[in-house]
Amino acid sequence: MAHNLLSGKKGIIFGALDPHSIAWKVAEKAHEEGAEFVLTNAPIAMRMGKINELAEATNSGIIPADATSMEDLENLFSKAVDKLGKLDFVLHSIGMSPNVRKDKHYTDLNYDYYHKTLDVSAMSLHRTLSVAMKQDALNEWGSVVALTYIAAQRVFPDYNDMADAKSMLESITRSFGYHYGVAKNVRINSISQSPTPTTAGTGVKGFDKFISYADKMSPLGNASADECAAYCISMFSDFTRKVTMQNLFHDGGFSFTGVSADIMDKM
Ligand code: NAI
Repeated sequence: MAHNLLSGKKGIIFGALDPHSIAWKVAEKAHEEGAEFVLTNAPIAMRMGKINELAEATNSGIIPADATSMEDLENLFSKAVDKLGKLDFVLHSIGMSPNVRKDKHYTDLNYDYYHKTLDVSAMSLHRTLSVAMKQDALNEWGSVVALTYIAAQRVFPDYNDMADAKSMLESITRSFGYHYGVAKNVRINSISQSPTPTTAGTGVKGFDKFISYADKMSPLGNASADECAAYCISMFSDFTRKVTMQNLFHDGGFSFTGVSADIMDKM
């Protein structure tokens, strides 16, 4: 059931690749809640993905941008503002590690790949915010949400160099959140989501066993992509105006559970 939570709000949604993507669900829900937005993804992902279907269903435009390119991001923000006017929300839903893809062990990383992981998965948030700020593209009380994972705080061995990228992403959330808050009352938060069966998620080794482990460790069970989308909408709405610089766990209680009866029963 829709509540018109984003009525009159405009935004940019990064990272909808296919209907499993968390960003895809956010776009569907943002549309239901009355928002207008531009969809964006890396040009290569657009060729492989199904973003046109989503654009049609949500009556939104598509502007390609590689989130590691300042030129692409400048073009994205200026065109989005031309089309929609100043923006109220941005979803950063971007992650990629060539080391994970090529099965490199964490103790034996390829450093060119490592740079790429950090650039795509973390520095892209800094670039996005920097371009938005320089172009003054966000309205006061605008809200930026980046998606992250608890491997930023605790060791999940197969998450590999993505753990380092997520730590950096969460740090950028805090640091930029301070500066953008002081300058323009813009708020920036990260949502730390349960393991979710998407292209990026299932790329992590042992994902099938791992998602079931997380589900059994979480008093409320894993949070789905749809539930994550609902949380993102609440963070874009006016009901969360004073929440900023936070890493918000959206994981059914996993992050604060030491052990569960379900897991003990399996021992
Ligand atoms: P996904 O694979 O559907 O989305 C990842 C997106 O990043 C894709 O749309 C991809 O095209 C985009 N991307 C990659 N390189 C890019 C670049 N250079 N420029 C612009 N876009 C680029 O997977 P998912 O799971 O929806 O991932 C979204 C976010 O959620 C990521 O930050 C991921 O780390 C995070 N997350 C995912 C979890 C999971 O288990 N699936 C758990 C916690 C966080």
